[in-house]
Amino acid sequence: MNTYLFVLGRDKNLSLLELVSYLQRKEFNYKIIRITDTYAEIHVQNFNPNKSIKELGGIVKIAEFFDINKIKIDKNKILFGLTIFYNDIKLISQLYDLFKKEKVKAIQKKPREIFFSPKESRKLDLELFVFKNKIAKVVVNSNPSEFKERDEKRPYFDKLKVTSLRLSKILVNLSQVKEDEILLDPFVGAGSILQEAMLMGINVIGTDIDKQSVEGAIKNLGWIKNKYGIKTNFKIYNIDNKEIDTIISKVDCVATEPYFGPFFLKIPKYEEVIKIIDEIEKIYYCLLLKLKKILPKNKLIVFPVPVYKTNKGRITMDFENIVKDLGFEIYSPLDSVKMPVKYSIKGNIVEKLIYILKK
Ligand SMILES: C[S@@+](CC[C@H](N)C(=O)[O-])C[C@H]1O[C@@H](n2cnc3c(N)ncnc32)[C@H](O)[C@@H]1O
Repeated sequence: MNTYLFVLGRDKNLSLLELVSYLQRKEFNYKIIRITDTYAEIHVQNFNPNKSIKELGGIVKIAEFFDINKIKIDKNKILFGLTIFYNDIKLISQLYDLFKKEKVKAIQKKPREIFFSPKESRKLDLELFVFKNKIAKVVVNSNPSEFKERDEKRPYFDKLKVTSLRLSKILVNLSQVKEDEILLDPFVGAGSILQEAMLMGINVIGTDIDKQSVEGAIKNLGWIKNKYGIKTNFKIYNIDNKEIDTIISKVDCVATEPYFGPFFLKIPKYEEVIKIIDEIEKIYYCLLLKLKKILPKNKLIVFPVPVYKTNKGRITMDFENIVKDLGFEIYSPLDSVKMPVKYSIKGNIVEKLIYILKK
């Protein structure tokens, strides 16, 4: 088993839960060694960091612990980065001795924040993390420009109806869907969550009340299938999701970003948001009631709930009451992280609380 260090993204708890859910859904043999505010150190067997970083939305970079004597440098001049967690002088001088022995001119850079950003990191020949008695080498960084390209080039894009691709991946992983299972998004919108699931080798179903969204999602998923040569399939239905059990008899997992009401350009009034919450609470209740029928026992629903900023402060709904009333368990894949976990983007009027429900 090799030991890896996973650098957590902006929403630390969410990134951590995604990582653990991913390791579980892919059935890796793993053991958590240490969790901090910024990284998780985990033993994992038969792990491919280059493949996994593409399937994880919340991990910024992956480093691997290694024996300093086994370091290989094939250049005579390198730019290297050191992030020092523990100032192990012995280890650092061992590293410089090695550069000297190999006749390598090594120029050291320091990160601006705790870690080098993926962009800064790409300019380095070698990026290392120093701990007490051990050293880890960055093996791969996330590549946000890959998301950007996929986001911008897909045929249908409506900024009011899309889930970010980074969040889409996180939601798919949190659902713990296995490769032979079917994932449902009952608010399919532009099909962002489903396209990321298909890229991970999963068959998907989506529903939407809006005809234009259904046509858009079909175009997007067809495009993804062709562009990436994917073998997995999709089915999209134009229905109100409160009737979902009339056309779908079984799905294995649900990952969604539901309807949050109208899009706000400025901070709404408290009274206006109270009316919206009343309306969407009913939609969520009816849907969850139907999902109970078509989901097998112990399977998961990943469901973000909106928190609105208003002229009188933030408000949200009593979602926990709804799910308890319907008999779902609120589930966390890690005992140390309590549900829900927050996902917010600076400046957004609607923030999200992400729940995982277990039937
Ligand atoms: C935020 S968007 C979903 C984004 C989507 N999850 C994605 O991956 O891009 C919300 C969608 O819910 C749809 N919607 C709202 N009420 C619905 C209902 N009762 N049944 C089905 N779809 C609904 C809207 O038409 C809209 O397309």
